[in-house]
Amino acid sequence: MRVLSGTKPTGDSLHLGNYFGALRQFVALQEQHAEALYFIADYHSMTTIRDAEQRRRYTLSVALDYLAAGLNPERAILFRQSDIPEVCELTWLLSSVTPMGMLERAHAYKAAMDRGESVDHGLFTYPVLMAADILLYHADLVPVGQDQKQHIEMTRDMAQRFNHAYDCEALVLPEPYIMKDSAIVPGTDGQKMSKSYDNTIAMFAGKKQIKKSVMGIVTDSNGVDEPKDPAAPIFQLWNLFSGVDDQKAMAERARAGGLGYGEVKKDLLERILDFFSEMRLRREQFESRPDDVEAILRQGAEKARAMAAPVLEGCRLAAGLGS
Ligand code: ADP
Ligand code: TRP
Repeated sequence: MRVLSGTKPTGDSLHLGNYFGALRQFVALQEQHAEALYFIADYHSMTTIRDAEQRRRYTLSVALDYLAAGLNPERAILFRQSDIPEVCELTWLLSSVTPMGMLERAHAYKAAMDRGESVDHGLFTYPVLMAADILLYHADLVPVGQDQKQHIEMTRDMAQRFNHAYDCEALVLPEPYIMKDSAIVPGTDGQKMSKSYDNTIAMFAGKKQIKKSVMGIVTDSNGVDEPKDPAAPIFQLWNLFSGVDDQKAMAERARAGGLGYGEVKKDLLERILDFFSEMRLRREQFESRPDDVEAILRQGAEKARAMAAPVLEGCRLAAGLGS
Protein backbone atom coordinates (compact mmCIF):
# COMPACT_ATOMS: atom_id res chain seq x y z
CA MET A 1 0.00 0.00 0.00
CA ARG A 2 1.52 3.29 -1.08
CA VAL A 3 0.38 6.41 0.82
CA LEU A 4 0.86 9.90 -0.60
CA SER A 5 -0.13 13.43 0.31
CA GLY A 6 1.03 17.00 -0.10
CA THR A 7 0.85 20.38 1.60
CA LYS A 8 0.82 23.75 -0.10
CA PRO A 9 3.50 26.11 1.24
CA THR A 10 1.56 29.27 1.92
CA GLY A 11 2.73 30.51 5.31
CA ASP A 12 5.48 30.67 7.90
CA SER A 13 4.07 27.91 10.08
CA LEU A 14 1.27 25.42 9.73
CA HIS A 15 -1.64 25.98 12.10
CA LEU A 16 -3.58 23.82 14.54
CA GLY A 17 -6.14 22.98 11.83
CA ASN A 18 -3.39 21.67 9.56
CA TYR A 19 -1.87 19.67 12.40
CA PHE A 20 -5.02 17.97 13.70
CA GLY A 21 -6.64 17.82 10.26
CA ALA A 22 -3.69 16.44 8.33
CA LEU A 23 -0.16 16.33 9.67
CA ARG A 24 -0.87 14.20 12.72
CA GLN A 25 -2.40 11.55 10.49
CA PHE A 26 0.48 11.71 8.01
CA VAL A 27 2.74 10.70 10.89
CA ALA A 28 0.45 7.85 11.94
CA LEU A 29 0.19 6.54 8.37
CA GLN A 30 3.95 6.48 7.86
CA GLU A 31 4.06 3.98 10.73
CA GLN A 32 1.19 1.85 9.40
CA HIS A 33 2.27 1.51 5.79
CA ALA A 34 5.45 0.34 4.17
CA GLU A 35 5.61 3.21 1.71
CA ALA A 36 4.66 6.82 2.35
CA LEU A 37 5.41 9.86 0.22
CA TYR A 38 4.82 13.39 1.52
CA PHE A 39 5.69 16.38 -0.55
CA ILE A 40 5.61 20.16 -0.44
CA ALA A 41 3.32 21.38 -3.21
CA ASP A 42 5.38 24.37 -4.33
CA TYR A 43 4.04 24.25 -7.90
CA HIS A 44 0.55 24.52 -6.44
CA SER A 45 1.49 27.60 -4.44
CA MET A 46 2.09 29.45 -7.71
CA THR A 47 -1.61 30.14 -8.12
CA THR A 48 -1.44 32.50 -5.14
CA ILE A 49 2.18 33.44 -4.36
CA ARG A 50 4.14 35.58 -6.78
CA ASP A 51 7.26 36.24 -4.72
CA ALA A 52 10.20 33.85 -5.21
CA GLU A 53 11.85 34.47 -1.84
CA GLN A 54 8.56 34.03 -0.05
CA ARG A 55 7.94 30.72 -1.81
CA ARG A 56 11.42 29.50 -0.85
CA ARG A 57 10.86 30.48 2.77
CA TYR A 58 7.40 28.90 2.97
CA THR A 59 8.65 25.72 1.28
CA LEU A 60 11.44 25.33 3.83
CA SER A 61 8.94 26.09 6.54
CA VAL A 62 6.67 23.17 5.53
CA ALA A 63 9.74 20.90 5.39
CA LEU A 64 10.59 21.96 8.95
CA ASP A 65 7.00 21.47 10.10
CA TYR A 66 6.97 17.98 8.55
CA LEU A 67 10.20 17.00 10.29
CA ALA A 68 9.21 18.64 13.57
CA ALA A 69 5.85 16.85 13.63
CA GLY A 70 7.61 13.52 13.32
CA LEU A 71 7.73 12.66 9.64
CA ASN A 72 10.82 10.56 9.45
CA PRO A 73 12.98 10.45 6.31
CA GLU A 74 13.88 6.85 7.21
CA ARG A 75 10.22 5.86 6.95
CA ALA A 76 8.70 8.32 4.50
CA ILE A 77 9.90 9.93 1.30
CA LEU A 78 9.86 13.69 1.81
CA PHE A 79 10.33 15.87 -1.25
CA ARG A 80 9.62 19.10 -3.05
CA GLN A 81 7.05 18.78 -5.83
CA SER A 82 9.04 20.92 -8.26
CA ASP A 83 12.10 18.64 -7.97
CA ILE A 84 10.15 16.16 -10.08
CA PRO A 85 9.27 18.16 -13.22
CA GLU A 86 7.86 14.95 -14.78
CA VAL A 87 4.68 15.86 -12.92
CA CYS A 88 4.17 18.68 -15.44
CA GLU A 89 4.36 16.26 -18.34
CA LEU A 90 1.80 13.97 -16.76
CA THR A 91 -0.40 17.03 -16.15
CA TRP A 92 -0.45 17.59 -19.90
CA LEU A 93 -1.23 13.97 -20.71
CA LEU A 94 -4.13 14.11 -18.24
CA SER A 95 -5.31 17.51 -19.48
CA SER A 96 -6.03 16.06 -22.85
CA VAL A 97 -8.50 13.52 -21.41
CA THR A 98 -10.13 15.93 -18.94
CA PRO A 99 -13.42 17.56 -19.94
CA MET A 100 -13.76 21.30 -19.30
CA GLY A 101 -17.04 20.59 -17.51
CA MET A 102 -15.27 18.55 -14.85
CA LEU A 103 -12.89 21.38 -14.05
CA GLU A 104 -15.71 23.93 -14.11
CA ARG A 105 -17.33 21.99 -11.27
CA ALA A 106 -14.20 22.12 -9.06
CA HIS A 107 -14.89 23.88 -5.74
CA ALA A 108 -11.88 26.20 -5.69
CA TYR A 109 -12.55 27.43 -9.22
CA LYS A 110 -16.27 27.85 -8.63
CA ALA A 111 -15.69 29.74 -5.38
CA ALA A 112 -13.22 32.11 -7.05
CA MET A 113 -15.69 32.73 -9.88
CA ASP A 114 -18.50 33.35 -7.38
CA ARG A 115 -16.32 35.91 -5.61
CA GLY A 116 -15.92 37.63 -8.97
CA GLU A 117 -12.13 37.15 -8.97
CA SER A 118 -10.21 36.96 -12.20
CA VAL A 119 -9.13 33.35 -12.50
CA ASP A 120 -5.98 32.24 -14.27
CA HIS A 121 -5.44 28.98 -16.06
CA GLY A 122 -3.27 27.67 -13.21
CA LEU A 123 -6.17 27.75 -10.77
CA PHE A 124 -8.51 26.26 -13.36
CA THR A 125 -6.16 23.39 -14.03
CA TYR A 126 -5.18 22.89 -10.36
CA PRO A 127 -7.09 19.58 -10.07
CA VAL A 128 -5.18 18.16 -13.04
CA LEU A 129 -1.81 18.96 -11.47
CA MET A 130 -3.05 17.43 -8.23
CA ALA A 131 -4.16 14.29 -10.09
CA ALA A 132 -0.72 14.08 -11.70
CA ASP A 133 0.87 14.36 -8.22
CA ILE A 134 -0.99 11.28 -7.14
CA LEU A 135 -1.00 9.19 -10.31
CA LEU A 136 2.69 9.73 -11.09
CA TYR A 137 3.65 7.56 -8.10
CA HIS A 138 0.91 4.92 -8.38
CA ALA A 139 -0.35 6.03 -4.97
CA ASP A 140 -3.04 3.78 -3.47
CA LEU A 141 -4.16 5.88 -0.53
CA VAL A 142 -4.36 9.66 -0.28
CA PRO A 143 -4.98 11.15 3.17
CA VAL A 144 -6.74 14.48 2.77
CA GLY A 145 -9.26 16.67 4.55
CA GLN A 146 -12.91 16.58 3.56
CA ASP A 147 -12.36 19.71 1.44
CA GLN A 148 -10.04 17.77 -0.89
CA LYS A 149 -12.29 14.77 -1.46
CA GLN A 150 -13.62 16.14 -4.73
CA HIS A 151 -10.07 16.36 -6.07
CA ILE A 152 -9.48 12.67 -5.39
CA GLU A 153 -12.71 11.76 -7.16
CA MET A 154 -11.56 13.81 -10.14
CA THR A 155 -8.18 12.07 -9.99
CA ARG A 156 -9.86 8.68 -10.24
CA ASP A 157 -11.97 9.92 -13.12
CA MET A 158 -8.91 11.21 -15.01
CA ALA A 159 -6.99 7.96 -14.44
CA GLN A 160 -9.93 5.97 -15.75
CA ARG A 161 -10.29 8.18 -18.79
CA PHE A 162 -6.60 7.90 -19.62
CA ASN A 163 -6.54 4.12 -19.21
CA HIS A 164 -9.69 3.84 -21.30
CA ALA A 165 -8.54 6.24 -24.03
CA TYR A 166 -5.32 4.27 -24.58
CA ASP A 167 -6.68 0.87 -23.63
CA CYS A 168 -4.04 0.41 -20.97
CA GLU A 169 -3.54 0.11 -17.23
CA ALA A 170 -0.80 2.68 -17.01
CA LEU A 171 -2.46 4.51 -14.11
CA VAL A 172 -3.64 3.17 -10.76
CA LEU A 173 -6.89 4.47 -9.24
CA PRO A 174 -6.23 5.88 -5.75
CA GLU A 175 -8.56 5.74 -2.75
CA PRO A 176 -9.15 8.82 -0.61
CA TYR A 177 -8.48 8.46 3.09
CA ILE A 178 -10.71 11.12 4.57
CA MET A 179 -9.34 12.17 7.88
CA LYS A 180 -12.71 12.13 9.63
CA ASP A 181 -11.81 11.66 13.25
CA SER A 182 -10.26 15.06 12.94
CA ALA A 183 -13.25 17.33 13.31
CA ILE A 184 -12.93 20.75 11.76
CA VAL A 185 -10.74 22.83 14.05
CA PRO A 186 -12.33 26.23 14.74
CA GLY A 187 -10.31 29.40 14.38
CA THR A 188 -10.07 32.25 16.87
CA ASP A 189 -13.23 33.80 15.38
CA GLY A 190 -15.25 30.58 15.54
CA GLN A 191 -15.22 29.89 11.77
CA LYS A 192 -13.09 27.02 10.40
CA MET A 193 -9.45 27.76 11.14
CA SER A 194 -7.85 28.83 7.87
CA LYS A 195 -5.11 31.07 6.65
CA SER A 196 -7.62 32.68 4.35
CA TYR A 197 -9.67 33.88 7.34
CA ASP A 198 -6.73 35.21 9.34
CA ASN A 199 -7.99 33.31 12.40
CA THR A 200 -5.22 30.78 12.91
CA ILE A 201 -3.17 29.67 15.86
CA ALA A 202 0.23 28.72 14.47
CA MET A 203 1.97 25.56 15.69
CA PHE A 204 5.37 27.16 15.81
CA ALA A 205 5.02 30.93 15.95
CA GLY A 206 6.81 32.83 18.72
CA LYS A 207 5.26 32.29 22.14
CA LYS A 208 4.08 35.90 22.26
CA GLN A 209 2.29 35.48 18.97
CA ILE A 210 0.59 32.27 20.11
CA LYS A 211 -0.47 33.98 23.33
CA LYS A 212 -1.95 36.85 21.35
CA SER A 213 -3.93 34.45 19.17
CA VAL A 214 -5.23 32.45 22.15
CA MET A 215 -6.23 35.56 24.09
CA GLY A 216 -8.09 36.73 20.97
CA ILE A 217 -10.36 33.67 20.75
CA VAL A 218 -13.94 34.93 20.58
CA THR A 219 -16.23 34.14 23.51
CA ASP A 220 -19.70 35.32 24.43
CA SER A 221 -20.07 38.08 27.01
CA ASN A 222 -21.36 35.81 29.80
CA GLY A 223 -19.84 36.77 33.15
CA VAL A 224 -17.79 34.39 35.27
CA ASP A 225 -20.79 33.16 37.27
CA GLU A 226 -23.01 32.45 34.30
CA PRO A 227 -23.18 29.02 32.63
CA LYS A 228 -21.16 28.58 29.42
CA ASP A 229 -21.75 26.51 26.29
CA PRO A 230 -19.25 23.62 26.37
CA ALA A 231 -19.48 23.40 22.57
CA ALA A 232 -18.16 26.97 22.13
CA PRO A 233 -14.95 27.30 20.01
CA ILE A 234 -12.78 27.99 23.06
CA PHE A 235 -13.77 24.62 24.56
CA GLN A 236 -13.45 22.81 21.24
CA LEU A 237 -9.88 24.06 21.04
CA TRP A 238 -9.19 23.19 24.67
CA ASN A 239 -10.52 19.66 24.08
CA LEU A 240 -7.89 19.05 21.38
CA PHE A 241 -5.25 19.14 24.08
CA SER A 242 -7.11 17.23 26.77
CA GLY A 243 -8.07 13.65 27.57
CA VAL A 244 -11.69 12.47 27.63
CA ASP A 245 -12.04 12.69 31.42
CA ASP A 246 -10.67 16.23 31.49
CA GLN A 247 -13.04 17.17 28.68
CA LYS A 248 -16.03 15.87 30.65
CA ALA A 249 -14.96 17.70 33.79
CA MET A 250 -14.45 20.92 31.85
CA ALA A 251 -17.88 20.64 30.20
CA GLU A 252 -19.47 20.23 33.63
CA ARG A 253 -17.63 23.24 35.01
CA ALA A 254 -18.72 25.28 31.97
CA ARG A 255 -22.38 24.34 32.39
CA ALA A 256 -22.32 25.01 36.13
CA GLY A 257 -21.07 28.60 35.89
CA GLY A 258 -18.24 30.02 37.96
CA LEU A 259 -15.65 29.44 35.24
CA GLY A 260 -14.07 32.48 33.57
CA TYR A 261 -12.96 32.43 29.94
CA GLY A 262 -9.68 34.05 31.02
CA GLU A 263 -8.81 30.99 33.07
CA VAL A 264 -9.61 28.63 30.18
CA LYS A 265 -7.50 30.69 27.78
CA LYS A 266 -4.52 30.71 30.13
CA ASP A 267 -4.75 26.98 30.57
CA LEU A 268 -5.20 26.42 26.83
CA LEU A 269 -2.08 28.46 26.10
CA GLU A 270 -0.05 26.35 28.50
CA ARG A 271 -1.40 23.16 27.00
CA ILE A 272 -0.60 24.28 23.45
CA LEU A 273 2.96 25.27 24.35
CA ASP A 274 3.43 22.05 26.25
CA PHE A 275 1.96 19.86 23.50
CA PHE A 276 4.25 21.30 20.82
CA SER A 277 7.34 21.87 22.98
CA GLU A 278 9.23 18.75 21.89
CA MET A 279 8.31 19.35 18.27
CA ARG A 280 9.37 22.97 18.60
CA LEU A 281 12.76 21.85 19.84
CA ARG A 282 13.15 19.43 16.96
CA ARG A 283 12.15 22.17 14.54
CA GLU A 284 14.78 24.51 15.94
CA GLN A 285 17.40 21.83 15.59
CA PHE A 286 16.57 21.27 11.93
CA GLU A 287 16.31 25.02 11.36
CA SER A 288 19.91 25.42 12.46
CA ARG A 289 20.97 22.76 9.91
CA PRO A 290 19.44 23.94 6.61
CA ASP A 291 21.94 21.87 4.60
CA ASP A 292 20.69 18.69 6.25
CA VAL A 293 17.10 19.61 5.45
CA GLU A 294 18.07 20.27 1.85
CA ALA A 295 19.85 16.90 1.71
CA ILE A 296 16.73 15.14 3.04
CA LEU A 297 14.59 16.77 0.34
CA ARG A 298 17.10 15.93 -2.39
CA GLN A 299 17.36 12.31 -1.37
CA GLY A 300 13.57 12.16 -1.18
CA ALA A 301 13.32 13.62 -4.67
CA GLU A 302 15.74 11.01 -6.03
CA LYS A 303 13.62 8.19 -4.64
CA ALA A 304 10.38 9.78 -5.82
CA ARG A 305 11.82 10.34 -9.27
CA ALA A 306 12.83 6.70 -9.52
CA MET A 307 9.21 5.75 -8.79
CA ALA A 308 7.84 8.31 -11.25
CA ALA A 309 10.02 7.42 -14.24
CA PRO A 310 8.52 4.01 -15.11
CA VAL A 311 4.96 5.28 -14.57
CA LEU A 312 5.44 8.20 -16.93
CA GLU A 313 7.20 5.94 -19.44
CA GLY A 314 4.22 3.60 -19.32
CA CYS A 315 1.88 6.48 -20.09
CA ARG A 316 4.08 7.75 -22.93
CA LEU A 317 4.28 4.30 -24.45
CA ALA A 318 0.54 3.75 -24.20
CA ALA A 319 -0.12 7.15 -25.80
CA GLY A 320 2.37 6.62 -28.63
CA LEU A 321 4.77 9.33 -27.54
CA GLY A 322 8.48 8.93 -28.25
CA SER A 323 9.95 5.97 -30.06
P1 ADP B 1 -5.83 26.74 4.91
O1 ADP B 1 -7.34 26.64 4.96
O2 ADP B 1 -5.27 27.38 6.13
O3 ADP B 1 -5.33 27.36 3.62
P2 ADP B 1 -5.07 24.26 3.70
O4 ADP B 1 -6.26 24.33 2.80
O5 ADP B 1 -3.72 24.50 3.13
O6 ADP B 1 -5.30 25.25 4.95
O7 ADP B 1 -5.12 22.85 4.44
C1 ADP B 1 -4.11 21.86 4.41
C2 ADP B 1 -4.65 20.61 5.11
O8 ADP B 1 -5.06 20.90 6.46
C3 ADP B 1 -5.90 20.03 4.42
O9 ADP B 1 -5.79 18.61 4.44
C4 ADP B 1 -7.05 20.50 5.27
O10 ADP B 1 -8.12 19.63 5.22
C5 ADP B 1 -6.43 20.56 6.67
N1 ADP B 1 -7.07 21.66 7.42
C6 ADP B 1 -6.93 22.98 7.20
N2 ADP B 1 -7.66 23.72 8.07
C7 ADP B 1 -8.30 22.82 8.87
C8 ADP B 1 -9.20 22.95 9.98
N3 ADP B 1 -9.57 24.13 10.44
N4 ADP B 1 -9.65 21.82 10.57
C9 ADP B 1 -9.26 20.61 10.13
N5 ADP B 1 -8.41 20.42 9.09
C10 ADP B 1 -7.92 21.50 8.46
N1 TRP C 1 -4.50 20.57 -2.85
C1 TRP C 1 -4.02 20.14 -1.56
C2 TRP C 1 -4.43 21.19 -0.50
O1 TRP C 1 -4.69 22.32 -0.83
C3 TRP C 1 -2.51 19.98 -1.57
C4 TRP C 1 -2.10 18.94 -2.55
C5 TRP C 1 -1.51 19.14 -3.76
C6 TRP C 1 -2.30 17.52 -2.41
N2 TRP C 1 -1.30 17.95 -4.40
C7 TRP C 1 -1.75 16.95 -3.59
C8 TRP C 1 -2.85 16.72 -1.42
C9 TRP C 1 -1.79 15.57 -3.80
C10 TRP C 1 -2.89 15.33 -1.63
C11 TRP C 1 -2.34 14.77 -2.82
O2 TRP C 1 -4.46 20.85 0.68
